[in-house]
Amino acid sequence: MIELEPLLRGRFGRPLRSVEETESTQSLLGPEDPEGAVAVADHQTAGRGRLGRRWQAPPGTAITASILLRPPAGSPIQQLSLVGGLAVAETVENALDLAAQLKWPNDVMVDRRKVAGLLAEAHDGIVVLGVGLNVNQTRDELPPDARVPAASLRTVDGEVRDLAPLLADVLARLELHYDAWVARGLDAVFDGIGSRDFLRGRRLRTDGREGVGAGLDRAGRLLVDGHPVESGEVELVEG
Ligand code: BTN
Repeated sequence: MIELEPLLRGRFGRPLRSVEETESTQSLLGPEDPEGAVAVADHQTAGRGRLGRRWQAPPGTAITASILLRPPAGSPIQQLSLVGGLAVAETVENALDLAAQLKWPNDVMVDRRKVAGLLAEAHDGIVVLGVGLNVNQTRDELPPDARVPAASLRTVDGEVRDLAPLLADVLARLELHYDAWVARGLDAVFDGIGSRDFLRGRRLRTDGREGVGAGLDRAGRLLVDGHPVESGEVELVEG
C-alpha cells in the first residue's frame, strides 16, 4: 500500500485512508471527514470517470486518489476540475521535464494523449475531487479504445516511478492552488490554466456546436468561436 505520510508537506493528506482495493476512492470519503482528507487505493474495482464512464488501471500502476474539499457555499465548484488539473499538470511537468496541457474540462494531456483525469463530485456540502494519473502502465495496459488516446508517464519516457512522491506533490500543489482559488477565485490560477489550454486553436465539436477553441473565459467556461460552453463533452475534429 502507498506510504504517503512521511512525504506530506501540508494539511492535504490528513487524515489518510490508504487501502489495497476498493470499488472507488470517491466512496471512501464523506461529510464526516475534514477538508484535506485523502483516500487512495492500489486498485479500484469500479473506478468512475466523468459522464458515467469507467476509469480502469491494473493494480499498483496508477495514482487513484480522492481529496475532500469544503469550498464556501455558492462557489463555482465546476472550476475545481481545472484547479486540480493545474496541480496534476505541474506534477507531470516536473516529473517528465516536458510540457503538459489541460483539455477542458478535466483531462491532463502530454503529446496529445491523456495521462490524467479529474472528477469532481459534490454532495452534502462537500466536494470529492478524484485524481486518476497514469504512471507505470505499459502501452498494453492502457485502454486501447479510449475516446481520448491514453498515455502513462512510463509510455512517455520509459521510466518506472514510485507513486507516493508523485501523489504527495499533487497534494501540495493542489492545496496551494485551492487555497488561492478560495481566496481570490479563478483569477488566482487563471494564468497557469490558460497557458496550458490544449483546445486553444483546435477545431472541435461540443454542445452541438462546431468551431475553434478560443480559450477559456474568466469563469472557466470554454469559448468556441466566442460562445461560452458551460460543461460537457469535447470532441476534436481532425483535418
Ligand atoms: C475522467 O477522466 O473522466 C475522470 C477520471 C477520474 C478517475 C479517478 S481515480 C480516483 C477517483 N476514484 C474514481 O472512481 N474516480 C476518480
